[in-house]
Amino acid sequence: MPRFNRLLITGAAGNLGRELRRGLAPLATTLRLTDRDAMEPAAAHEEIMACELGDFDAVMQVVEGCDAIVHFGAAPVERPWAEILESSIKGGYNVYEAARRHGIRRIVYASSIHAVGYERREVGADTDTPHNPDTLYGVSKCFVEDLAKLYFNKFGIESACLRINSCFPKPADRRHLATWLSFDDLVQLVERCLVSERIGHTVVYGISDNREAFFSNHKVAHLGYQPKDSAEDYRAEVEARVGPGDPFDPAIEFVGGFLCAYGHPDEEERIEL
Ligand SMILES: NC(=O)c1ccc[n+]([C@@H]2O[C@H](COP(=O)([O-])OP(=O)(O)OC[C@H]3O[C@@H](n4cnc5c(N)ncnc54)[C@H](O)[C@@H]3O)[C@@H](O)[C@H]2O)c1
Repeated sequence: MPRFNRLLITGAAGNLGRELRRGLAPLATTLRLTDRDAMEPAAAHEEIMACELGDFDAVMQVVEGCDAIVHFGAAPVERPWAEILESSIKGGYNVYEAARRHGIRRIVYASSIHAVGYERREVGADTDTPHNPDTLYGVSKCFVEDLAKLYFNKFGIESACLRINSCFPKPADRRHLATWLSFDDLVQLVERCLVSERIGHTVVYGISDNREAFFSNHKVAHLGYQPKDSAEDYRAEVEARVGPGDPFDPAIEFVGGFLCAYGHPDEEERIEL
């Protein structure tokens, strides 16, 4: 028996949205998928609605009739300020406000490690670590995390803010040996945030069961998230391919990695993912 009648996924055409589209299907009678980009045609249990997240009226339409929201649509990395403002900050506000107006009770939000990117590796962080963003991208994640807190305290909308570390098919470099999140573990984490009896306003790090870690999830056992994958399975291959770096390089010193050494996005070359 599906848990939800209609579950909305924003950013559904993206790398993680496509994994959630697959993995969350059993949870809902209907998955409503939205993005401004095209995606694979809808299956029988799906409906697709194109939407620009900066357009409040369009967001109101896609949110109407849904039971919960998995909000992954946003600028996915450091981008020019105008794009961060429109897609991530305004888009985040539009999703929360549309949820309030339509009576939605729970949102799972794709935050990021870059909300605390200027923490030092050896100090580490837990889910109470204050915001310490390394980019305008990270600032946008802090903004929506705080918005989620406001909308919980004032309006009772529960949120899980997933500080996703590095969610890719496999670890690409030495930093990823600590920050990797597998696609299957991502799906499990989102599912736990959707079905747990109470989440209030929860911050959780999106990491697999890696031996190395910069972050601790020890305060969020209430989610019942038990990652199954580990970057350790890739250590030999990664270490053979990538040499150790300089520990005083900002890209290694801070948990945010290379973005800590990246300048203002309106002046730097665009980052291609
Ligand atoms: N992949 C990771 O390791 C990682 C790490 C931390 C956080 N995240 C977060 O997870 C989410 C998904 O990331 P991803 O890796 O799948 O990136 P992605 O770029 O593949 O997906 C983002 C999607 O959002 C859509 N989008 C962006 N702006 C929009 C707008 N204004 N209106 C409508 N749609 C818009 C894009 O079209 C895209 O399909 C993002 O919020 C990202 O910040 C990802």
